[in-house]
Amino acid sequence: MKAVVLVGGEGTRLRPLTLSTPKQMLPIVDLPMIVRVINHLATYGIEEIILSLGYRPEAFVSLLPEGRHGSFTIKHAVETEPLGTAGAIRFAADKGGIDTTFVAVNGDVLSDLDISKLIEFHIAHKAQATLSLTPVDDPSAYGVVVTDSNSQVLSFIEKPSRETASSNWINAGTYVLEPEVLERIQPGRAVSIEREIFPAVVNEGGLYAFPSDAYWLDTGTPSCLLRANMDLIDGTRGGPPHPNAREHSPGIWLHGSSIIKGELIPPCFVGDGAVVEKGAILERSVVGRGVHVQQNVKASNCVLLEKSSIGEGTSIRDSIIGERAFLGAGSVISGLSVVGCDAILEPGTHLQSGRVP
Ligand code: GTP
Repeated sequence: MKAVVLVGGEGTRLRPLTLSTPKQMLPIVDLPMIVRVINHLATYGIEEIILSLGYRPEAFVSLLPEGRHGSFTIKHAVETEPLGTAGAIRFAADKGGIDTTFVAVNGDVLSDLDISKLIEFHIAHKAQATLSLTPVDDPSAYGVVVTDSNSQVLSFIEKPSRETASSNWINAGTYVLEPEVLERIQPGRAVSIEREIFPAVVNEGGLYAFPSDAYWLDTGTPSCLLRANMDLIDGTRGGPPHPNAREHSPGIWLHGSSIIKGELIPPCFVGDGAVVEKGAILERSVVGRGVHVQQNVKASNCVLLEKSSIGEGTSIRDSIIGERAFLGAGSVISGLSVVGCDAILEPGTHLQSGRVP
């Protein structure tokens, strides 16, 4: 079966990280998000993946060129202007020659959904389209999906208030679609699958919903991106946080060779070529490849992306530091701050819930 993976959005909520790196190229525990998403699809026997590209396609093209990659083939569909979620699916499906049942996924969702079961469910219900549902604590930021006892979708309720929400099951962003759905999508303009196409399929009784409480996380905001990393080192998802990491001691995961003179308080991950100097204390943090943590740094609940450099005596809590960023000595960073790739912070910078640049 073929799958379209949507990775063309600008990822505005994750700026400044996404100013230079598209969202799905950002690493989750030192492995680009797109690789994690594709590996999940490949586990369920997806043989051809069409990357639906728009914003900054070059990074994807260079990491995942067209052609065979082990058990699956990659194709690219690069939009010249944003086509929205449905327009992008149609454009990619045309490029990929899709003419039978296929899968489409939002490429910024990390999930352990059983895609084989989703496909079986779709076929058993003779659906035109099936969407996966996931439960959330607070549905008010999402679109709630209302179904009948046969799992047929009756309606969508966009961003209901917490009190009035009739259910807490939301669209999880993984779909199985029949090619006839593509014909509904007008080519050449931006079309939203959630707002324009699915409501039309609901009116014909062709949309079904498959509930699953498997792990699910939309990585679209800094707090969710941080959580995606923490869920892997905490063991929430099971297995090693990185496919090639080894557990050096309980909860301390290392990949490749690193130099650690400071203290690591579990859970932590340290990537290949990273250096943690004497007196540094890292707690529940992800240190990407080639990161340099200088003496007496204190970091907790942090993600330090590839080749960033953290100056002596700096303190970082609950924050994300971008690739190759340079933090001057004695800085204090906290409160879900995000420092962009290549940013340079003067020594002694204080950042509380800040974004640079
Ligand atoms: P924000 O700007 O922060 O909302 O992020 P986003 O641009 O990624 O938008 P959103 O999270 O709503 O997108 C859901 C998924 O669809 C993501 O995987 C996006 O990359 C993708 N996406 C959104 N719009 C487009 C588009 O116009 N073309 C393509 N190819 N993908 C898109």
